[in-house]
Amino acid sequence: MITEHEITLAQPADALDISELSRDAVEYGLSWRWTQRRVMRSISDLSTNVVVARQQGMLIGFAIMKYGDDDAHVLLFAVRSDKRRAGLGSALLAWLEATARVAGIQRIQLEVRARNPVAMAFYRGHGFREAGVSPGYYENVEDALQMVKDLA
Ligand SMILES: CC(C)(COP(=O)(O)OP(=O)(O)OC[C@H]1O[C@@H](n2cnc3c(N)ncnc32)[C@H](O)[C@@H]1OP(=O)(O)O)[C@@H](O)C(=O)NCCC(=O)NCCS
Repeated sequence: MITEHEITLAQPADALDISELSRDAVEYGLSWRWTQRRVMRSISDLSTNVVVARQQGMLIGFAIMKYGDDDAHVLLFAVRSDKRRAGLGSALLAWLEATARVAGIQRIQLEVRARNPVAMAFYRGHGFREAGVSPGYYENVEDALQMVKDLA
């Protein structure tokens, strides 16, 4: 386990670190769409939670989840490469799930790049099931696997 980390809602000052981690860990090989400005918009969006994990003040992971009436959608999720496999992703996902349950959310949805077996294993291990494929979802260069977890 990573010790002495804290998980909190993001502040506007976190937007650049989040966007750069997204570019490197999630959007590799694609256009950089989650720019600092877009992350800033999510931080100020009342129907979205942007959550960060910090260790000694350094941002080491984040998650972005948007809430609908019954469903919530994980838009973006990453842990710094040198901090992986130590339970941090699980801690961030637990935070999202607990918050979704409190908000009365029935189902959490997300997309995973079809060539990202690590993320698939991670989400499967946390009770997500495969719910379909969106061909060419990522700029027509890669399919998306849709994954869902029922909370009810
Ligand atoms: C997916 C990701 C968030 C997981 O974060 P993490 O902090 O390493 O996850 P955890 O340490 O909590 O792992 C929990 C479980 O997931 C599975 N898992 C995680 N990494 C794995 C790997 N490289 N290979 C196989 N299973 C893996 C394991 O079952 C693991 O439990 P274990 O370590 O006891 O075996 C991280 O790998 C990451 O940021 N990847 C790049 C970005 C990304 O793919 N984001 C998700 C799609 S948007």
